[in-house]
Amino acid sequence: MRTETEHTVYLKDYAPSPYRIVAVDLDFRIGAETTRVTAQLTVEPREDTEPGTPLVLDGDELSLGSIAIDGAPLILSAYAADANGLTVFEPPLRRFVLETEVTLRPEGNTRLMGLYRSSGTWCTQCEPEGFRRITYYLDRPDNLAVFKVRMTAPLDLAPVLLANGNLIDKGDAGDGQHYAVWEDPFPKPAYLFALVAGDLGSITDSFTTASGRKVDLAIYCSHGKENQCLWAMDSLKRSMAWDERRFGREYDLDIFNIVAVSDFNFGAMENKGLNIFNDRLVFAEPETATDANYDGIERVIAHEYFHNWTGNRITCRDWFQLCLKEGLTVYRDQEFTSDERSRAVKRISDVVTLRSAQFPEDGGPLAHPPRPDQYREINNFYTTTVYEKGAEIVRMLATLLGEAGFRKGMDLYFERHDGEATTIEAFLAVFAEANGIDLEQFKTWYLQAGTPRLTVAEQYDADKQTYTLRLRQETPPTPGQPDKAPLVLPIKFGLIGPNGSPMAWSGVSGAEVRDDLIVLKDASAEVTFTGIPSRPVPSLLRGFSAPVILQTEASQQDQLFLARHDSDPFNRWQALQDVGMALALDAISGAPLNDGALTALSQAMSDTLASDSLDNAFKALALSLPDEQLIGRTIGKDIDPDKIHAVRERLLQAVFEPLADQMLGTYNALASSAPYAPDPASTGRRALRNRMLSLLVASDAAGASLLALKQYEGASNMTDRLAALSAASNAGTPDAAGMLANFRTRFGADPLVLDKWLTVTAAAPREGVIEDMKAILADPSFPKTNPNRLRSLVGTFAMGNPTQFARADGAGFRFVTDFVSDVDKVNPQVAARVLTGFRIWPMLESGRREAANAALLALRDKGSLSRNTADILTRMLA
Ligand code: ARG
Ligand code: ZN
Repeated sequence: MRTETEHTVYLKDYAPSPYRIVAVDLDFRIGAETTRVTAQLTVEPREDTEPGTPLVLDGDELSLGSIAIDGAPLILSAYAADANGLTVFEPPLRRFVLETEVTLRPEGNTRLMGLYRSSGTWCTQCEPEGFRRITYYLDRPDNLAVFKVRMTAPLDLAPVLLANGNLIDKGDAGDGQHYAVWEDPFPKPAYLFALVAGDLGSITDSFTTASGRKVDLAIYCSHGKENQCLWAMDSLKRSMAWDERRFGREYDLDIFNIVAVSDFNFGAMENKGLNIFNDRLVFAEPETATDANYDGIERVIAHEYFHNWTGNRITCRDWFQLCLKEGLTVYRDQEFTSDERSRAVKRISDVVTLRSAQFPEDGGPLAHPPRPDQYREINNFYTTTVYEKGAEIVRMLATLLGEAGFRKGMDLYFERHDGEATTIEAFLAVFAEANGIDLEQFKTWYLQAGTPRLTVAEQYDADKQTYTLRLRQETPPTPGQPDKAPLVLPIKFGLIGPNGSPMAWSGVSGAEVRDDLIVLKDASAEVTFTGIPSRPVPSLLRGFSAPVILQTEASQQDQLFLARHDSDPFNRWQALQDVGMALALDAISGAPLNDGALTALSQAMSDTLASDSLDNAFKALALSLPDEQLIGRTIGKDIDPDKIHAVRERLLQAVFEPLADQMLGTYNALASSAPYAPDPASTGRRALRNRMLSLLVASDAAGASLLALKQYEGASNMTDRLAALSAASNAGTPDAAGMLANFRTRFGADPLVLDKWLTVTAAAPREGVIEDMKAILADPSFPKTNPNRLRSLVGTFAMGNPTQFARADGAGFRFVTDFVSDVDKVNPQVAARVLTGFRIWPMLESGRREAANAALLALRDKGSLSRNTADILTRMLA
């Protein structure tokens, strides 16, 4: 395999740069074809820098026009420059200004890193290493500098000129050109630099901070979309208020701008004072956006805003520390959503995501620690492990320290490290210090990959009236880490007495227990409770207090008891999932379906649905069976996706078909003619009603397909319309094809709604889906460079269509590797991301495994892959 460069970066090699850039003056002359960038970098040697130490700057696809130091052009022998960097051999050993000029071609920048054009708008993406595609620089997060940016552009093409910080000057530049000068007073790493130039509309608002400062807010978008930005603005203001309330964090500039662009490699970016967003995470109106879209917008607007303190004011020393800002900021956005909406529902949804995205990563060829110690391509480490497992680690810290102790640590973190580029060690140190505890063992969570298995056995001694839990933890080996150390596991729990109420104990011995928390630190330990009058049912790992796979001896009877009585909503939900999983595993192993067990689950589902103490959103989550991929991973080896699919269909029907009347009754009772609103109650109502519809359709209840068709046709919002379409398409009802065709005709002109059509199409578990996708990609009007379109189609297929992706004949694998090979030439990040869909391949049954291996080897043999894709492929085949 030929790759761009084979180069591994190691954490242990971290060293500060011998020079620092302390101030940056940038001049962008933006033209229709090319953009000229002049950079004046104020450089200082470090105190201990030896004379003659070269200054080495990063570059990527750059070509140097001119170079000078303190105004004097450098002679040729004084420097070396190529596309990948610039070296000044003997820079002065004092403060000096290095001036360089380069010319960029944003139009041809299909990688969407650095300066590029999206639907006519010039915009930038610099994290993690995009700034080096704009100018030669110390492109590393520990170099903090103040930036001043002057932009000149044709007034007709770019009436709006934005950069970080405050606008300090603007005016006419003659010849149909105008200019603007922006200055950001906060020193920042280059990855937070941003610039936008274009013909954009906007909405504006303002927010007054707790200390009474007025901040001007604006969201920029393509003309005509302004009304679709209102929900994002509302979310922004609520985020600003929440960070003040919950963490005492105020915004620090007088301006906060957000820009929505159509071509963007991921969700959004927290550039100082100028967040840039994928437009799918900004635009919402009831007719075209679903409740899930509204949720996602609220969450990501909050996430990027929260980065201003966790990420920008305090940033990362190096990219190995990425989860310092990402894990913490995801934790913060999760807490925001929990406070704004339902904590239980948020927790359950997050755990569903963790299990469906992070666990498979952690248990497959791409497993890596939340803080990795080596990488070949840092872009491949913006993973669910860094983000979501990173957030779980912060959550465990909060659980161990309690709310007050956690807040004390956070306060100290902001106080001590404001303005710094720092590390995980520094982060843990503030919590240890503020709470007078030792977090050395806890740190292992950041260093060790793999999902721990927590096994719990129990023993009740009626004579002694004692109850003992035997706990054992084990983390399986992962690539490069054969041996694992025990972790600190905070296990929230309760004991439930026969009448369903909590059971108290008179004494406890063994492992550390604090109120409702067992802290397991060893590979195994026991906890014995005394004064226990009868065998309790244990509720373990409440709220999913640690990201582990829990294995207990609970009987179906215990689980159904928990589903009914547990005061912890997460475990109530979990108990029903566990019963469903046990039935699925039995059926797959070939055992006949146990009628008693089935009836009991049906009844529990029915009772859950009828409960008047549970809310709709919770019920919508509870009335479900574990998804096919989770069932597959629980089996763990020799997976046959077709068999799992068939068994699960049968199970859905057996469990839910008996509830058809009750579900239809609920469906009808939840109808509403109120205008669409994204509040928690309305969202919960729609979630449960649409859950009823999909269960009726999936369990083949009489009249269900017609119900889906009617809902599709009569829907007054996209949530209901798309739910009906998905239900029909996934179940392959007679009307599905017609509905899909109608949807395309009706909404195909709106790119974000087209994505929904692509997603539903690609997820359908039916023969022929690959041919359909090939036809879509071959259509000349299909935008082959837009990440949203590509991911909606092929990303969905690789990640969310287990039976067709892992077809026994290998056609699904080959379709994806062919796609990756093509797209890699245009946008390596999109290609590499889609390829990660293969991470399940080692768990498949042998025929499919061979087919997957063959497709991966064929991709490797094609050669000339980007570093992004080559890195994923190498690890996938290791
Ligand atoms: N920092 C941005 C965010 O959290 C994401 C940047 C992703 N960058 C990447 N190369 N994948 O939300
Ligand atoms: Zn982030």
